[in-house]
Amino acid sequence: MKVLVIHGPNLNMLGKREPEHYGRLTLEEIDSGISGLSVELGMETESFQSNSESGIVERIQQGGCDIIIINPAAFTHTSIAIRDALLATGIPVIEVHLSNIHKREEFRRHSYVAGISLGQISGFGAESYMLALRAAKAHLKAV
Ligand code: DQA
Repeated sequence: MKVLVIHGPNLNMLGKREPEHYGRLTLEEIDSGISGLSVELGMETESFQSNSESGIVERIQQGGCDIIIINPAAFTHTSIAIRDALLATGIPVIEVHLSNIHKREEFRRHSYVAGISLGQISGFGAESYMLALRAAKAHLKAV
């Protein structure tokens, strides 16, 4: 079971970036938590971060995984290209956010990815990724 974890723009700044919304862990620390849990769950993970929409679209197109966990960050609210790339692969998708996008500014409430995802996990900080990994395992076991 191979899981591709995609982190969108500005998530490379975690640790210093608006800790009141995103916590104090760095992306490296989050990725190491993800890979630790994936070993426990008997899964393999690859993490990919890009600040560019085209970088994310290209990595999605390469595929090579059974499921995608994606935090599209600001592209959540703007990117039809990322939604289309996810649809084109046919690979199941779980959407993740560190903050609860539904209790922040109005513009964050809309997600182009939500409607094509198995589900959305939002608001649990770094734990959102761990919950997504467990959901990915449950989904892959069930299919
Ligand atoms: C985010 C929420 C987005 O609205 C924001 O643009 C981000 C991070 C989150 O993980 O809470 O960059 O996706």
